[in-house]
Amino acid sequence: MAKLFEPISVRGVTSRNRIWIAPMCMYSCENKDGVVNNWHLVHLGSRASGGAGLVMAEATAIRPDGRITPWDAGIWNEEQIKAWQPVTEFIRSQGALSAIQLAHAGRKASTYRAWSGENSVPLSEGGWESVSSTSEAFPGYAAPRELSHEEIKELVGQWVQAAVNSVKAGFDVIEIHAAHGYLVHQFLSPLTNQRTDEYGGSKENRARFLIEIVQGMRKAIGEEIPLLVRFSATDYHPDGFTVEDCSEVAIMCREAGADLFDISSGGLVMGVKIPVGPGYQVPLSQEVSERVEAPVSAVGLITDAKQAEEILQTTDVDIIMIARQSLRDPYWPLRAASELGVEIDYWPNQYARGKYPTN
Ligand SMILES: Cc1cc2nc3c(=O)[nH]c(=O)nc-3n(C[C@H](O)[C@H](O)[C@H](O)COP(=O)(O)O)c2cc1C
Repeated sequence: MAKLFEPISVRGVTSRNRIWIAPMCMYSCENKDGVVNNWHLVHLGSRASGGAGLVMAEATAIRPDGRITPWDAGIWNEEQIKAWQPVTEFIRSQGALSAIQLAHAGRKASTYRAWSGENSVPLSEGGWESVSSTSEAFPGYAAPRELSHEEIKELVGQWVQAAVNSVKAGFDVIEIHAAHGYLVHQFLSPLTNQRTDEYGGSKENRARFLIEIVQGMRKAIGEEIPLLVRFSATDYHPDGFTVEDCSEVAIMCREAGADLFDISSGGLVMGVKIPVGPGYQVPLSQEVSERVEAPVSAVGLITDAKQAEEILQTTDVDIIMIARQSLRDPYWPLRAASELGVEIDYWPNQYARGKYPTN
């Protein structure tokens, strides 16, 4: 039996295999109200019928100014919660777990969609003032306003409320987006946090915002729902956040009630060299798993079934996350089972006549 198709349990839920669909922004809430629609249902739904163990919804804003673009999904009001419900119901009906990545973009908010090639949306065109740990702009973007101590406290409550809303929307698993240069990462990294209050300075202080979010969420969502944290384990910068820092913060998160760490990298600053290649972030996942007693996932240019299986066989990585390969092929997990010679019982009946010939 291939490890890729072994079930894995975290708290009260079990994933039928170790192929999880990574969060991917769709920028497709066409009314710019954060309310998901048929696009999200079909996109996430087809990856659930495609055999993934877990399907994670895109970076979903915890409040309006936390959206990367005006077209992002949100989960701060009832209309948004209601719109998510058929999506989570369908994912569940296909035997997959549904997860949501909760996010606040911080100083990388209020931009145009990735495919339009422009940066900040001006206030006159429906953009908004961004907020951050710092008042320093991300290169090419409008400068953010530095959050006050009181505003940070208020934000923690809004993150927690978003987790409660996610449970109401039917999600099985919640992930906190603390990676890719967005708000939580802006607090974590010394490159973007020179605060002099209790949310800046030492590593413990820079991690305080995240830890308060984890503690608040765990208290609010109870013991059954897994809480994941996605980190950028390195800024690829000599003065930035490192894999050692990441591991220490992950241990703090673990004590605060987080369960699994989704290890990515980069996104905070421009002009750094990233060693992109097949499985290039796997060594970071491995390093975190050696330092932290918790399951970890690996993501980044994992595109082939044998490659995914080899990662699980030769490292301590527990989960494989797939992003772009699943855009090319929503049924990748079904194909991977056939390539690894694994019999699975969740090929959709409606598609049975299209089943790969068994070898
Ligand atoms: C279209 C697209 C949207 C993405 N949106 C998000 C996101 O919302 N949150 C996030 O943490 N990463 C996001 N990512 C990064 C992916 O989750 C993943 O980490 C990255 O693409 C590397 O994995 P891959 O090589 O399998 O694509 C996005 C990637 C793509 C291609």
